[in-house]
Amino acid sequence: MTTFSEFIQTRRSIRRYTSQQIEDEKIQLILQSALMSPASKRSNPWEFIVVRNREMLIQLSECRSRSAEFLARAPLCIVIIADRTKTDIWQEDASIASIVMQLQAHDLGLGSCWIQVFNRMKNEELTSEHYIRTLLQIPENFAVHNLLSIGYPDEQKTPFDISKLAEQKIHYDKF
Ligand SMILES: Cc1cc2nc3c(=O)[nH]c(=O)nc-3n(C[C@H](O)[C@H](O)[C@H](O)COP(=O)(O)O)c2cc1C
Repeated sequence: MTTFSEFIQTRRSIRRYTSQQIEDEKIQLILQSALMSPASKRSNPWEFIVVRNREMLIQLSECRSRSAEFLARAPLCIVIIADRTKTDIWQEDASIASIVMQLQAHDLGLGSCWIQVFNRMKNEELTSEHYIRTLLQIPENFAVHNLLSIGYPDEQKTPFDISKLAEQKIHYDKF
Protein backbone atom coordinates (compact mmCIF):
# COMPACT_ATOMS: atom_id res chain seq x y z
CA MET A 1 0.00 0.00 0.00
CA THR A 2 1.27 3.44 -0.91
CA THR A 3 1.77 5.75 2.04
CA PHE A 4 0.72 9.40 1.82
CA SER A 5 4.37 10.51 1.77
CA GLU A 6 5.01 8.30 -1.29
CA PHE A 7 1.76 9.46 -2.92
CA ILE A 8 2.48 13.17 -2.53
CA GLN A 9 5.92 12.76 -4.14
CA THR A 10 4.32 11.73 -7.44
CA ARG A 11 1.71 14.51 -7.66
CA ARG A 12 2.63 16.79 -10.53
CA SER A 13 0.63 19.15 -12.74
CA ILE A 14 -0.48 17.23 -15.83
CA ARG A 15 -1.51 19.21 -18.92
CA ARG A 16 -1.61 16.48 -21.58
CA TYR A 17 -4.37 13.90 -21.52
CA THR A 18 -5.40 10.82 -23.49
CA SER A 19 -8.78 10.87 -25.23
CA GLN A 20 -10.20 8.41 -22.66
CA GLN A 21 -13.35 9.75 -21.00
CA ILE A 22 -13.42 9.79 -17.20
CA GLU A 23 -15.88 7.35 -15.64
CA ASP A 24 -18.88 9.00 -13.92
CA GLU A 25 -18.03 7.20 -10.64
CA LYS A 26 -14.58 8.83 -10.63
CA ILE A 27 -16.07 12.27 -11.29
CA GLN A 28 -18.46 11.69 -8.39
CA LEU A 29 -15.57 10.76 -6.06
CA ILE A 30 -13.72 13.92 -7.05
CA LEU A 31 -16.78 16.10 -6.40
CA GLN A 32 -17.48 14.36 -3.08
CA SER A 33 -13.92 15.06 -1.97
CA ALA A 34 -14.53 18.77 -2.62
CA LEU A 35 -17.73 18.73 -0.59
CA MET A 36 -15.78 17.25 2.33
CA SER A 37 -12.94 19.74 2.18
CA PRO A 38 -12.39 21.99 5.18
CA ALA A 39 -14.02 25.45 5.00
CA SER A 40 -13.93 28.35 7.42
CA LYS A 41 -16.78 28.00 9.94
CA ARG A 42 -18.25 25.38 7.58
CA SER A 43 -19.54 28.26 5.46
CA ASN A 44 -18.96 26.14 2.32
CA PRO A 45 -18.96 29.13 -0.05
CA TRP A 46 -17.83 27.01 -3.02
CA GLU A 47 -19.89 25.52 -5.80
CA PHE A 48 -18.64 23.48 -8.74
CA ILE A 49 -19.55 23.42 -12.42
CA VAL A 50 -18.68 20.22 -14.26
CA VAL A 51 -17.94 20.75 -17.95
CA ARG A 52 -17.45 17.89 -20.42
CA ASN A 53 -18.91 19.41 -23.58
CA ARG A 54 -16.03 19.80 -26.09
CA GLU A 55 -17.25 23.11 -27.50
CA MET A 56 -17.52 24.55 -23.99
CA LEU A 57 -14.08 23.19 -23.02
CA ILE A 58 -12.62 24.95 -26.05
CA GLN A 59 -14.32 28.20 -25.10
CA LEU A 60 -13.10 27.87 -21.49
CA SER A 61 -9.55 27.29 -22.73
CA GLU A 62 -9.72 30.81 -24.15
CA CYS A 63 -10.23 32.41 -20.71
CA ARG A 64 -6.53 33.30 -20.57
CA SER A 65 -4.25 34.45 -23.38
CA ARG A 66 -2.12 31.26 -23.14
CA SER A 67 -2.13 29.61 -19.72
CA ALA A 68 -5.27 27.52 -20.33
CA GLU A 69 -4.71 26.32 -23.92
CA PHE A 70 -4.39 22.65 -22.91
CA LEU A 71 -7.94 22.68 -21.52
CA ALA A 72 -9.24 22.52 -25.12
CA ARG A 73 -7.99 18.91 -25.28
CA ALA A 74 -8.99 17.79 -21.75
CA PRO A 75 -11.99 15.49 -21.18
CA LEU A 76 -13.13 17.35 -18.07
CA CYS A 77 -13.07 20.76 -16.46
CA ILE A 78 -14.30 21.60 -12.99
CA VAL A 79 -15.00 25.31 -12.50
CA ILE A 80 -14.59 26.39 -8.88
CA ILE A 81 -16.77 29.32 -7.93
CA ALA A 82 -17.38 30.80 -4.48
CA ASP A 83 -20.17 32.87 -2.96
CA ARG A 84 -18.43 36.02 -1.75
CA THR A 85 -21.38 36.91 0.50
CA LYS A 86 -20.90 33.80 2.68
CA THR A 87 -17.42 34.52 4.03
CA ASP A 88 -14.58 36.98 3.54
CA ILE A 89 -12.09 34.13 3.13
CA TRP A 90 -13.71 32.33 0.22
CA GLN A 91 -10.41 32.29 -1.68
CA GLU A 92 -8.87 30.05 0.94
CA ASP A 93 -11.91 27.75 0.92
CA ALA A 94 -11.93 27.56 -2.89
CA SER A 95 -8.19 26.85 -2.98
CA ILE A 96 -8.44 24.08 -0.42
CA ALA A 97 -11.35 22.40 -2.25
CA SER A 98 -9.29 22.59 -5.45
CA ILE A 99 -6.19 20.92 -4.06
CA VAL A 100 -8.30 18.25 -2.36
CA MET A 101 -9.86 17.46 -5.76
CA GLN A 102 -6.42 17.38 -7.38
CA LEU A 103 -5.22 14.89 -4.79
CA GLN A 104 -8.36 12.76 -5.16
CA ALA A 105 -7.88 12.79 -8.94
CA HIS A 106 -4.25 11.72 -8.52
CA ASP A 107 -5.35 8.86 -6.28
CA LEU A 108 -7.70 7.71 -9.07
CA GLY A 109 -4.86 7.61 -11.60
CA LEU A 110 -5.92 10.91 -13.19
CA GLY A 111 -3.78 13.96 -13.92
CA SER A 112 -4.92 17.51 -13.28
CA CYS A 113 -3.81 21.10 -13.54
CA TRP A 114 -4.98 24.28 -11.82
CA ILE A 115 -5.84 27.20 -14.10
CA GLN A 116 -5.97 30.52 -12.32
CA VAL A 117 -8.99 32.71 -13.10
CA PHE A 118 -9.33 35.21 -10.26
CA ASN A 119 -7.16 38.34 -10.81
CA ARG A 120 -6.22 37.20 -14.31
CA MET A 121 -7.09 38.66 -17.72
CA LYS A 122 -8.35 37.06 -20.94
CA ASN A 123 -6.99 40.00 -22.89
CA GLU A 124 -6.25 43.68 -22.27
CA GLU A 125 -9.92 44.57 -21.88
CA LEU A 126 -11.63 41.54 -20.39
CA THR A 127 -11.01 39.69 -17.14
CA SER A 128 -10.94 35.89 -17.24
CA GLU A 129 -13.59 35.95 -14.55
CA HIS A 130 -16.02 38.12 -16.52
CA TYR A 131 -15.53 35.99 -19.64
CA ILE A 132 -16.33 32.75 -17.76
CA ARG A 133 -19.21 34.32 -15.83
CA THR A 134 -20.91 35.26 -19.10
CA LEU A 135 -20.12 31.92 -20.76
CA LEU A 136 -21.53 29.80 -17.91
CA GLN A 137 -24.21 32.24 -16.66
CA ILE A 138 -22.72 32.48 -13.17
CA PRO A 139 -24.55 34.88 -10.80
CA GLU A 140 -22.73 38.05 -9.68
CA ASN A 141 -22.41 37.01 -6.02
CA PHE A 142 -20.13 34.15 -7.05
CA ALA A 143 -16.46 34.77 -7.72
CA VAL A 144 -14.91 32.57 -10.39
CA HIS A 145 -11.78 31.40 -8.63
CA ASN A 146 -10.06 28.78 -10.77
CA LEU A 147 -10.53 25.87 -13.13
CA LEU A 148 -9.20 22.33 -12.88
CA SER A 149 -8.47 20.42 -16.07
CA ILE A 150 -8.57 16.67 -15.45
CA GLY A 151 -7.88 13.60 -17.56
CA TYR A 152 -5.91 10.40 -17.94
CA PRO A 153 -2.25 11.44 -18.19
CA ASP A 154 -0.56 11.45 -21.58
CA GLU A 155 2.74 12.74 -20.18
CA GLN A 156 5.07 11.49 -17.48
CA LYS A 157 6.58 13.80 -14.94
CA THR A 158 9.44 13.13 -12.58
CA PRO A 159 8.40 12.61 -8.97
CA PHE A 160 9.87 14.93 -6.36
CA ASP A 161 13.32 13.99 -5.10
CA ILE A 162 13.15 14.24 -1.32
CA SER A 163 16.90 14.87 -1.12
CA LYS A 164 16.48 18.00 -3.30
CA LEU A 165 13.65 19.74 -1.44
CA ALA A 166 14.23 23.40 -0.49
CA GLU A 167 14.89 22.66 3.17
CA GLN A 168 16.26 26.21 3.59
CA LYS A 169 12.66 27.46 3.47
CA ILE A 170 11.93 25.80 6.78
CA HIS A 171 12.73 27.68 9.96
CA TYR A 172 12.66 26.44 13.51
CA ASP A 173 11.61 28.58 16.48
CA LYS A 174 12.57 31.87 14.72
CA PHE A 175 13.20 33.04 11.15
C1 LIG B 1 -2.50 29.08 -7.46
C2 LIG B 1 -2.02 28.33 -8.69
C3 LIG B 1 -2.25 28.86 -9.95
C4 LIG B 1 -1.84 28.16 -11.10
N1 LIG B 1 -2.18 28.64 -12.33
C5 LIG B 1 -1.87 27.91 -13.42
C6 LIG B 1 -2.32 28.32 -14.71
O1 LIG B 1 -3.05 29.30 -14.85
N2 LIG B 1 -1.96 27.57 -15.77
C7 LIG B 1 -1.17 26.45 -15.66
O2 LIG B 1 -0.86 25.83 -16.67
N3 LIG B 1 -0.73 26.03 -14.44
C8 LIG B 1 -1.08 26.71 -13.33
N4 LIG B 1 -0.71 26.27 -12.10
C9 LIG B 1 0.12 25.05 -11.97
C10 LIG B 1 1.56 25.43 -11.61
O3 LIG B 1 2.19 25.96 -12.76
C11 LIG B 1 2.31 24.19 -11.08
O4 LIG B 1 1.71 23.74 -9.89
C12 LIG B 1 3.77 24.52 -10.80
O5 LIG B 1 4.47 24.82 -11.99
C13 LIG B 1 4.50 23.38 -10.11
O6 LIG B 1 4.43 22.17 -10.87
P1 LIG B 1 3.85 20.82 -10.24
O7 LIG B 1 2.42 21.07 -9.87
O8 LIG B 1 4.01 19.78 -11.32
O9 LIG B 1 4.67 20.49 -9.03
C14 LIG B 1 -1.12 26.93 -10.96
C15 LIG B 1 -0.88 26.42 -9.67
C16 LIG B 1 -1.34 27.08 -8.56
C17 LIG B 1 -1.11 26.46 -7.19
